Amino acid sequence: MRESLVLCAALFLSTVAVIELHAAPKTRFDETTQTCRYLDDGPLEWESRPWGQGGKLFQERCKSCHSQGNSKGAPFLWVESKNSEAWNRVFTEKYPACAKDGSWGQMTMEEQMRLNDYLYRWAKNSQDLNDSC
Ligand code: HEC
Repeated sequence: MRESLVLCAALFLSTVAVIELHAAPKTRFDETTQTCRYLDDGPLEWESRPWGQGGKLFQERCKSCHSQGNSKGAPFLWVESKNSEAWNRVFTEKYPACAKDGSWGQMTMEEQMRLNDYLYRWAKNSQDLNDSC
């Protein structure tokens, strides 16, 4: 009986440890606006998920071209195409041709930040705690 209790406790603790290790970043520092975005609490916790505004903007504003086998000449992109830092660069530098030629459409600063939040939070290798503020 006692042994199984100890085993249970060990199993529980290791599960907690694994979840902790795979926690997504809690914060994102936004260079453009010099603000700290809290991604693990409050409204942005929801909005930076695939079904929140950030994830929806990616589907609506980006995947219209960046889908697999598209005819627009756009490379396939998904959230794990880049790591968190690289996604931040896409938005701070706006270096892609499509960002310069108006393909992103009209997005408010808050919408751009929410899209960036989503991509940052679930990026490649984002599952360690790379909080940035
Ligand atoms: C109208 C179509 C279109 C839309 C909409 C669009 N893109 Fe693009 N994007 C392209 C094309 C075409 C290229 C390749 C341009 C080139 O390199 O000549 C590109 C290139 C890129 C690149 C560089 C390629 C890479 O792998 O680094 C990134 C990053 C990018 N787009 C991100 C985005 C994001 C983020 C959005 C949504 C806000 C978006 N794009 C919306 C057409 C589009």
